[in-house]
Formats: sequence, structure tokens, C-alpha cells
Amino acid sequence: MASYNLLLLPGDGIGPEVMAEVEKVAAWCQTTGIATFEIERGLVGGAAYEAHGQSISEADMALAHAADAVIFGAVGGPQWDSVPYEVRPEAGLLRLRKDLALFANLRPAICYPALADASSLKRDIVEGLDIMIVRELTGGVYFGEPKQIIDLGNGQKRGIDTQVYDTYEIERIGRVAFELARKRGNKVTSSEKRNVMRSGVLWNEVMTALHKREYPDVKLEHMLADALGMQLVRWPKQFDVIVTDNLFGDMLSDVASMLTGSLGMLPSASLGEADSKTGKRKALYEPVHGSAPDIAGKGMANPIAMIGSFSMALRYSFGLVEAADRIETAISDVLNAGLRTPDIKTEGATMVSTVEMGEAILKALEASK
Ligand code: IPM
Ligand code: MG
Repeated sequence: MASYNLLLLPGDGIGPEVMAEVEKVAAWCQTTGIATFEIERGLVGGAAYEAHGQSISEADMALAHAADAVIFGAVGGPQWDSVPYEVRPEAGLLRLRKDLALFANLRPAICYPALADASSLKRDIVEGLDIMIVRELTGGVYFGEPKQIIDLGNGQKRGIDTQVYDTYEIERIGRVAFELARKRGNKVTSSEKRNVMRSGVLWNEVMTALHKREYPDVKLEHMLADALGMQLVRWPKQFDVIVTDNLFGDMLSDVASMLTGSLGMLPSASLGEADSKTGKRKALYEPVHGSAPDIAGKGMANPIAMIGSFSMALRYSFGLVEAADRIETAISDVLNAGLRTPDIKTEGATMVSTVEMGEAILKALEASK
């Protein structure tokens, strides 16, 4: 049986609660003989700040570098609103992404039929939805320099962030999108704001050239990011793979999450470049939702996005496709049986806690073949 090193970083808020449910699924994988996991645990975000005065310690960064996959919960909370900007909880996540060079963030938005009524949109608009948002994750305005607030000396200050993309960054995220599209609906929608931004003009040119050169068999369309936001809520099933920059991807994936019923449903994978010798990629798996401090500790959090993220780790890092399919089927079975955490509440459903949802998924897994 293959063995993998996992680093679990539960973080803040509901992070530890949903991570506890993933640990049960990982244990199931071991007892079933799917794989064994060497598990390390670390701190990130506010939890790391309390312990080390940093949003992630050097020791935990070293563990992240060494891990086959990092499984990440969520960071942030109002109690850290006034800590210095450099050590705010989110800085830990951004450092992990940047230092591990996790440039490709895959955010699948799938609407399980049982949840079509939990979405704020009409059933026929979302039912059967299956789109993949590919978000560039280590560039753009998140990391561009200069990034500062300067004092203009006349009672005014100036806040500056820099949107910057180089050709190679656009090409490598484009390749990820085109490769994924070939295994799905064979269509890529590339999104930027070339009508306003120079970086958008370059993004569009590079995607067009890459398509022509390496992926002429895939259908490519371009859509301005504001129009794409509108189309996502108007008729989302027109999309297959969407590829976009860091900031637009952040916003559009939150929009897409509501098509699936709840932000508590969306998993994600953040991947680095494949090693030319081993083919291995650095990887971090995290739910798209945040730390949800308002419901933390109440047993109300939906563990599905976190469990789905673990399933993505099995699929993308370890090639355990069958096990990943089984987990996703178990999630679907539990939803079909009418079990719901509060965020996906629908008429006539059975309300369950975080732990009850996790255990129901485990039971469905045990019953599956
Ligand atoms: C996300 C989150 C993060 C981001 C925050 C927590 C820094 O919103 O992963 O979508 O903006 O990337
Ligand atoms: Mg976000």
C-alpha cells in the first residue's frame, strides 16, 4: 500500500471542526487499504499568530515543503483584525501559495441534483451544473509590487496595489485549463478586462497564441470578467472550464459557489508545476469557504467542501481516482438521503451537525464498494 505525507493545517474558526471530519475519511482510507498517511499537524493563521507571533512558523513551512499534500482548513477572525498587516491570518495562506509556487487553483463548481433547491437561483438554471474555475494563484494584484500605502504629506495617503502578469505565468495557467478541458467538455472561457487593463490585453494575446499553437482542438472563447460574472448567474451551464487571474478568480469562484447551493460545498486544489523527473506536484487542498467565525464552535459548519478537498487530493496528488469517486458518491448519497447542514437547508430535509454529516458520509463510504 502506498504511503503519503500529509500536513494538516486546520487554522481558525470552523477550520478545526471540518478538518476533524477529514481525519475520519483519511482513517477510512487506511483501514480499507487504499493508502496509508503519515500525518503531521501544524498551525496557520490566527492560531499560529497566538502561538508564534507569525501567521505560519518556519518549522511548519518546512513541513509544508516536505509534504506530499497540505490539507488546509481556513484562516481569519475578528479577533485578529488589528494585528500588523504582515502577520494577519491570511498572510499564512498567501505565503504557502507563493513559497510552494502553487500557481494553479482548481475550483470545481458542481450542483448535486439534491441541492438544486438550496441555490438562490432557480432549479433549471443550476441543476446538473459542472464547471471548473481555474484561477491563477501566485501572481496578479495579490503579489505585484509596489504594494503599499504612502503618505503624500498633504494630509492625503495613497494606497497602491500592482496588477502584473508575465507571459510565462499566463501560458502555464492556460495549459492547465486547456488540459483539463480536453478531459471534460473541451471548452475554455478565458476572462480578463482587456478593455481597461494592459495586463488584460496581454492575457488575451497570450491565451489566443497558446490556443493556436498547442490546443487548436479545444474551443476557446474570451469573455470580459464583468460580463462573465453576469453570465454565471444568468446561464452558468454555458461554461466548461473558466480560466482567469487571481483577483477575478477569487470573486468569480465565490459567485459560482452559490450556484451549487452554498459556499460550504466548494472544494479546491492548488497545484504547482509537475517535477520534470518525478512528475510530482506540490499541492495544497482547501475549501473555498473561509473560517466563518459567526458559526465556529457551534457544530453548524458544513464539512462537505473540506471532505471534497481531501477527495481532490486523492485524485490529483495520489492518482487514487476510484477512492475519490467513492467519496464523491458518498457525499451525493448523503445529500440524496436528505441530510443537510444549516447552510444547505431545503424543505423537508433532516438537519444535521458537522459531526453527524461527517459520520453519515463515513457510513455511506463503508457501505460503498
Ligand atoms: C480564497 C480566499 C483567500 C483569497 C483569502 C482568505 C486570502 O478568499 O481562497 O478565495 O483571497 O485568495
Ligand atoms: Mg475568496
